[in-house]
Amino acid sequence: MCGIVGAVARENIVPALVEGLRRLEYRGYDSCGVAVNSARGLERMRSIERVSHLDSRLRRARLESASGIAHTRWATHGAPAIRNAHPMLSGDALAVVHNGIIENYEALRDELSNAGYAFVSQTDTEVIAHLIHSLYDGDLFAAVREAVQRLRGAYAIAVVHEDTPHIIVGAREGSPLLIGAAEDGNFIASDALALTGRADRFLFLDDGDVCELTRDTIRVVTRNGEPVEREPQRISVENSAVELGSYRHYMQKEIFEQPEVVAATLRGVEALTPELFGDAAPATFDGIDSVQILACGTSYYAGLVAKYWLETIAKIKTDVEIASEYRYREPVTSRRALVVTISQSGETADTLAALKYAQSLGQTRTLTVCNVPSSAMVQLCGTRYLTRAGQEVGVASTKAFTAQLVALFMLAVTLGRERGHVTALRESQYLQQLHGLPQMLTSMLELEPQIVAWATRLAEKENALFLGRGLQYPVALEGALKLKEISYIHAEAYPAGELKHGPLALVTEAMPVIAIVPDDAMQEKMKSNIQEVRARGGQVYVLADKDAQIASEEGIHVIRMPAHYGPLSPVLYTVPLQLLAYHTACTRGADVDKPRNLAKSVTVE
Ligand code: AGP
Repeated sequence: MCGIVGAVARENIVPALVEGLRRLEYRGYDSCGVAVNSARGLERMRSIERVSHLDSRLRRARLESASGIAHTRWATHGAPAIRNAHPMLSGDALAVVHNGIIENYEALRDELSNAGYAFVSQTDTEVIAHLIHSLYDGDLFAAVREAVQRLRGAYAIAVVHEDTPHIIVGAREGSPLLIGAAEDGNFIASDALALTGRADRFLFLDDGDVCELTRDTIRVVTRNGEPVEREPQRISVENSAVELGSYRHYMQKEIFEQPEVVAATLRGVEALTPELFGDAAPATFDGIDSVQILACGTSYYAGLVAKYWLETIAKIKTDVEIASEYRYREPVTSRRALVVTISQSGETADTLAALKYAQSLGQTRTLTVCNVPSSAMVQLCGTRYLTRAGQEVGVASTKAFTAQLVALFMLAVTLGRERGHVTALRESQYLQQLHGLPQMLTSMLELEPQIVAWATRLAEKENALFLGRGLQYPVALEGALKLKEISYIHAEAYPAGELKHGPLALVTEAMPVIAIVPDDAMQEKMKSNIQEVRARGGQVYVLADKDAQIASEEGIHVIRMPAHYGPLSPVLYTVPLQLLAYHTACTRGADVDKPRNLAKSVTVE
């Protein structure tokens, strides 16, 4: 999704802007651009190709400057086209980059058109540029402060003006924006990763803040104009120079990193106590009466698995809700509920808004399970569990999901211990199982050649059904999401018992059905559901435990998993489904790491 980077320094900052854009590429974008104050005045260059294309044009033009702003755009208002790419100009003297959506842009556009401003793009961002321009009388900071008071919606902006080439002004409301400080200059960005290797101290802006950067100074004021005295914090930003190595795609690499990710997560974990979730956790967890999980997409499915664990192991009532639904309804809440947000990026606008909403309803016991330490969600939550998945580049989340599952399982056992439902012996058995996961995951990856054979057949289809029961139902949902988002095959997941209540009507010879059949209490039920599909001519692809009583036969293709892994089996079953989506997408020639229309961090609603 959109990304911002800006810099003001003693030296030429164009390479820093380009490098920042490259680091933001993983978020997904359809155009990019920079605007700098050079010796010739305000200069802008934009591209609807990759950042590397913009870079070669900038080099050819020998563009140099000590201050400027840059952007990767993920289209919301207006098609991906040069005229809609940021930075947006006003009066050829002022440039703006913007993440987010301005909800009252039509009214502002009418007003500014009546005042004589000509609009050349279809974006809401151009409204911001003209609005600031209309309020500018030599003081850019004052003009931005006045302008943002008129904006409704979510935004993070960075603005430059050719009259004051040594100044960048920024503002945020609902979209992440931070300042990076360094010896030789100051930076602004929507994601700390953009400033890897450039800044070593970070100041996270709050909603309503407006800031002004020069190469030596940082000024921040709140919505009410009060100066903010927060010191920039030292945060180690992970080096995002991610190498593909021998892998074809980041998604494949990230699938194969899962044994190491889980090993890293479990390193040093010898007991499952609240302290594992941070110093504030013992007080946060004490006396909770329920758990409310809020998340989107794959993280939501991790939450659905966690519900089974939390209710079965910790015996605590757990609700899981899609964040974009929760934030707009009137939920019946408990002040003693533990609100858990799950997010790989920690920036997902809907999850952040749902968290703030829960807090506004008096739900102050909050825990976030997040993969990005510098993210807004981590800043906002009292208690944090940082997953150790490392930077995830592929838009399709894989290793972050596995890391979330491990964290949530540990949470369930921890709460079970606290609430007296898990004995010390049981805890040590769970720990043993957890520590066995990396090796089990490695065996899962060895199934790849068998999965490739399935993928070749699946790639010819346009629809697929995924079936699971109990703990495996969310895994089926995740398998279907993976397949649709990267291969563009329409896929749906159902609890297998629900099949005969509607979706069975879709089953013909052309409908592949992927079924998850662990060797558990639901095995016989799943086998009956598979027969229902076979009776209608459907081809069934079964992932089964080693000892499951099901064998390959006409129309039923079985891949055997190494062994049944009890309550942690969702972590294992996820892997072949990730590989299936990956290889199916490759066979269809899809751009696996950058699926159409999608972004890595969804920072707009
Ligand atoms: C996963 O493959 C997706 N691309 C998407 O559903 C993602 O999980 C969702 O947008 C939530 O993101 P988050 O974990 O960063 O909050």
